[in-house]
Amino acid sequence: MDTTIFERYESEVRTYSRSFPVVFDYAKGSVLRSTDGREYLDFFCGAGALNYGHNNDFIKQRLISYLTDDRIIHGLDMFTVAKEEFISFFEKSVIEPRNLAYKVQFTGPTGTNAVEAGLKLARKYTGRANVFALNGCFHGSTLGSLALTSERRKRAAAGVPLDNVTHCPAPYQFGEAHALDFMEKALTDDHAGIDKPAAIVLETVQAEGGINVFSADFLRGVREICTRHEVLMMVDDIQVGCLRTGTFFSFERAGIAPDIVILSKSIGGFGLPFSMVLLKPDIDIWEPGEHDGTFRGNQLAMVAGKAALELVADGHIAEGVRVREALVRDYLTEQLAVLHEGAEVRGIGLIWGLDLHDGALAGSITRECFNRGLIIERAGREDSVVKVMPSLVIPIEQLQTGLDILRDAAKAVLETTG
Ligand SMILES: Cc1ncc(COP(=O)(O)O)c(C=O)c1O
Repeated sequence: MDTTIFERYESEVRTYSRSFPVVFDYAKGSVLRSTDGREYLDFFCGAGALNYGHNNDFIKQRLISYLTDDRIIHGLDMFTVAKEEFISFFEKSVIEPRNLAYKVQFTGPTGTNAVEAGLKLARKYTGRANVFALNGCFHGSTLGSLALTSERRKRAAAGVPLDNVTHCPAPYQFGEAHALDFMEKALTDDHAGIDKPAAIVLETVQAEGGINVFSADFLRGVREICTRHEVLMMVDDIQVGCLRTGTFFSFERAGIAPDIVILSKSIGGFGLPFSMVLLKPDIDIWEPGEHDGTFRGNQLAMVAGKAALELVADGHIAEGVRVREALVRDYLTEQLAVLHEGAEVRGIGLIWGLDLHDGALAGSITRECFNRGLIIERAGREDSVVKVMPSLVIPIEQLQTGLDILRDAAKAVLETTG
């Protein structure tokens, strides 16, 4: 396989092509094929953008008919039938059954653009510049979302000061009570030296941060602090929304309603770029055009997004996540964690991490997985967590095969490294 064109012309900034240095061409369900005919099982899932697998037939048929009929593709924020159908179905199948009340804002199609919109609106609404985020979070790579993002290496690339964010301890660092206490003191101690924030922004499961699952109690604690101090609670559900944790929104397990919710990745249904901000109606104080973007109206993604919502509406995918969750949890605990002293297993739904506390070791294992036909990535501090994130509808046999590859690769690496 010739990869020289990429290596010669494509910027050094590329990342995943370094972990998986082959040329991909075909993908179906949980299988990708490279141009040399080799097949790979997918435990990476487009970083969470392919919850229903590659080229899902049901969604694909909707896209094909939409294209065949010359329906509108580029819509900015004009009224279109595709948008009407998406919003109505989203309201009927997601918002109303959960007794939630949100308006939707469509933003530019990347997750980071929706985070920027949420941040801008929280600041405008409260008149405050500061925002709280948690150690270990990832919210995107543009300046506002990067100021939230905690990883030192990514922050260093900004080239300008990243300010107006206070990073608070995450619950797994010094305990849940401490994490909540820190926020409370930061808000009430008149000598804290910390400006009152517009919002507390968090993922309910820190994904890139190493699969750290926050408990329902902690999430309720943050909600309570936000309400009492009139600070907005903004949940970034970009990676772990859309059923990844077993429910459509990841915060459902806490029975809370954040003031602002960010969705992206799998809302586009088919891997198509699409992002939205959900906002409690009274927060919607935007003036027309204050946060615009040429590609806010990705009609194909709206068609695919509605089809994906139809797919999940009867609950069978959520049920399938529960079955697969138990399988992955038990397998990682019983067959992987025992291979290496101190290894930890963390996760929920179909996002799991095997923390080896050793980035080089985790890297050797994921490379060996790739050699054996499994696409799997790393996350967390020093990239020491092997991240298991298959499609939500991966056939059980393929899930089992992928886990076997991971176990055998880990065994092989551990044998050679001692
Ligand atoms: C939790 C979270 N927030 C924000 C982003 C940024 O999304 P995008 O890469 O589409 O800008 C990501 C991407 O991985 C993410 O996982």
